[in-house]
Amino acid sequence: MRIRIVLACLVIASGAFSADKRQEGAQEKNAFHCNSLIGRGVNLGNALEAPEEGKWGVRLEEEYFDLIAGAGFTSVRIPVRWSEHADVTAPYTIDNAFLARVDWAIKQALSRKLVAIVNIHHYEEIVKAPVEQKERFLALWKQIADHYRDYPNTLYFELLNEPCKKLTNELWNEYADEAIRLIRKSNPTRGIIVGPTSWNNISELKNLKLPRDDKNLIVTFHYYQPFKFTHQGASWVGRQSNAWLGTTWTGTEKQRQDIISHLEQAIQWANENQLPLFMGEFGAYGKADMASRAKWTAFVRSEAEKRGISWAYWEFCAGFGVYDSTQGKWRRELLNSLIPENGTN
Ligand code: GLC
Repeated sequence: MRIRIVLACLVIASGAFSADKRQEGAQEKNAFHCNSLIGRGVNLGNALEAPEEGKWGVRLEEEYFDLIAGAGFTSVRIPVRWSEHADVTAPYTIDNAFLARVDWAIKQALSRKLVAIVNIHHYEEIVKAPVEQKERFLALWKQIADHYRDYPNTLYFELLNEPCKKLTNELWNEYADEAIRLIRKSNPTRGIIVGPTSWNNISELKNLKLPRDDKNLIVTFHYYQPFKFTHQGASWVGRQSNAWLGTTWTGTEKQRQDIISHLEQAIQWANENQLPLFMGEFGAYGKADMASRAKWTAFVRSEAEKRGISWAYWEFCAGFGVYDSTQGKWRRELLNSLIPENGTN
């Protein structure tokens, strides 16, 4: 932020502050303000993006939203598997009962003054066969955008969780551009979040091309480095992850520098492109030791905040959970790493 202010001052001092530049400045402020409202968030993971809510052990409860707001979080990211609840042939109608359930979750968040981010999550068909799925992807966004057009502007849309595999940079840039233009017809100023390919990897930011004329875009990335630490014993990444069990993160100079250099790479790109950054997922799986998880989480969180990067921890009450829903209590070490002002009680 400081760098941007200094740069702005230099531009003014040089007398080159044309109408165009002023316009750019105003656009920048919108998206940056929008991003600052996300602030500190948590993902309501393993609920609405499971094949059916409850199948992955999480059903959203009203109480969760009280807990989250009460602990000092300012936003929730709500991953949603729309593709499982919409027709597979045109016009790809979304199931009404499912839509009502997502409405409920969004309203729970908004009524507690939490920013709500709703995305398309685990749309596995599109990363396997993007060309075949493009029309359906856009039809889903048309319906979602029309449905939420009158919701408060503290509801944001995120186009697609972790584009990867056959959804190449070239295709993703095209689909994202079309989705943004389509959403803009019904939601002219709503915050829209977009991330790069390779599972929202920082290294692919340089290949992300966004419409220049949109004032309300936020760029997201996911952060799970070192992967052998954060995904040790994670069955969904393959059997090799068992060999990573016991990997610690103690915060050595090298470990800290690695994280800093990744975040610096991200922020440098963001500054060059005058776009705000949202770290939409980061976390370490519950099979890692708690002391390491707490240290890593606190470090990544604070380094992100130093750079004006908003964030959402992955996730609330499943395998990475900051909250233990079976015991009905916060995992204090993790909560304190995320919201240090929360104290240690
Ligand atoms: C991605 C996946 C999610 C997984 C998380 C951590 O968001 O979509 O299912 O739990 O990353 O690996």
